[in-house]
Amino acid sequence: MNKPLKQHLIDPEICIRCYTCEMTCPVEAITHDDNNVVVDAEKCDFCMDCIPVCPTGSIDEWRVVETPYSLDEQFGWQELPAQAEIGSSSGVEALDDAMEALLAEAHKGAGGKSKAPATATKPTVNLYNLGKPATAKVTGNFRLTSGESGSDVRHIILDFGAQPMPVLEGQSIGIIPPGTDAEGKPHLPRLYSVSSPRDGERPNFNNLSLTVKREVQGLCSNYVCDLKIGDEVKVTGPFGATFLMPEDSAARMLMICTGTGSAPFRAFTMRRQRAQAGGSGDMIMFFGARTPDSLPYFGPLNKVPERLLKKHLVFSRIPGVDKEYVQDRMMVEQEAVANLLADPQTHIYICGLRGMEQGVELAFKNIAESTGLAWEATRDAMRDEGRYHVETY
Ligand code: A2P
Repeated sequence: MNKPLKQHLIDPEICIRCYTCEMTCPVEAITHDDNNVVVDAEKCDFCMDCIPVCPTGSIDEWRVVETPYSLDEQFGWQELPAQAEIGSSSGVEALDDAMEALLAEAHKGAGGKSKAPATATKPTVNLYNLGKPATAKVTGNFRLTSGESGSDVRHIILDFGAQPMPVLEGQSIGIIPPGTDAEGKPHLPRLYSVSSPRDGERPNFNNLSLTVKREVQGLCSNYVCDLKIGDEVKVTGPFGATFLMPEDSAARMLMICTGTGSAPFRAFTMRRQRAQAGGSGDMIMFFGARTPDSLPYFGPLNKVPERLLKKHLVFSRIPGVDKEYVQDRMMVEQEAVANLLADPQTHIYICGLRGMEQGVELAFKNIAESTGLAWEATRDAMRDEGRYHVETY
């Protein structure tokens, strides 16, 4: 007789198909088809290694089941099934205690489970997949950073012609690099945040932009950065159902980023510029880069009026000037940050280098506690209300 057991599952609506969990799992319990990434109940030994590496929290789903969902069932899901009613049993409870302890440990390194802002537009996800990708045409490839900085960040424009590609600000798409890996398998898509607003890089064109940094050994980033006008690119997605902007025009947005982590914030800013001209809650940005000429969109960003977007551009490697990180400037601006933290209209977004997360958290903690707010409780409540979003890599 099958005992009820706790099964580890992935939420297909929130999963962005980055395959990091699959690459991390030491027992190869995680696998994918063209549609979904799934967990094999027979192989998963609850080691929890996949929990902290998931950028969305979609990996952190559990159902008590009499019979585990099969791989084929999971491959077919568009959404997770609800927890079925099952009488509690001591077997499950014993398992729960041990698992809760493991999970608590794993969560220490995780961004936590994210939720979309309550007023966000419902996103479309997973419209195109590995078996049925969209084909986009490259209509632009501009270098955003100067040669002297050594950094090569590109603004890539992709046009989808007659194929629908409904993306919201904050969502990502996958690019499938051509060719095969060492085992002869097609390459998996790499994910890039869309940096244009929902009505297109050019308003009312069926196009979007990406902000891509060339990585020395990066298979896909080199492919993308070398694309020529007219080239065709295979695209999956859109992905992402939580790192979205509130539709409420009074909402205030605090955005913290490094490097290409600025991509979604360019989209947020352009959305507000186009859709809510003159009448929106404030947006504040802390943006870190090595130098001004390696900060993507430095010129255009400086032209965005301060009344729409308050910009704190900070630099870590200007010769003769002390290194400054985003968290250092947050401390300098602590009054403004404290004011935002205390306001239930505020949404916080953090995007960029994973290493920045710890420093930013510490700055928030210092600022919150100096005004008598308990940081962890504030953050967790904000996350639960869809007002705290982290996407780091
Ligand atoms: P640095 O590399 O000088 O230590 P880019 O993607 O253009 O390199 O920008 C990333 C920026 O983030 C750089 O200024 C980098 O500084 C900075 N950075 C690196 N580590 C951290 C960290 N732990 N916290 C905040 N910023 C960081």
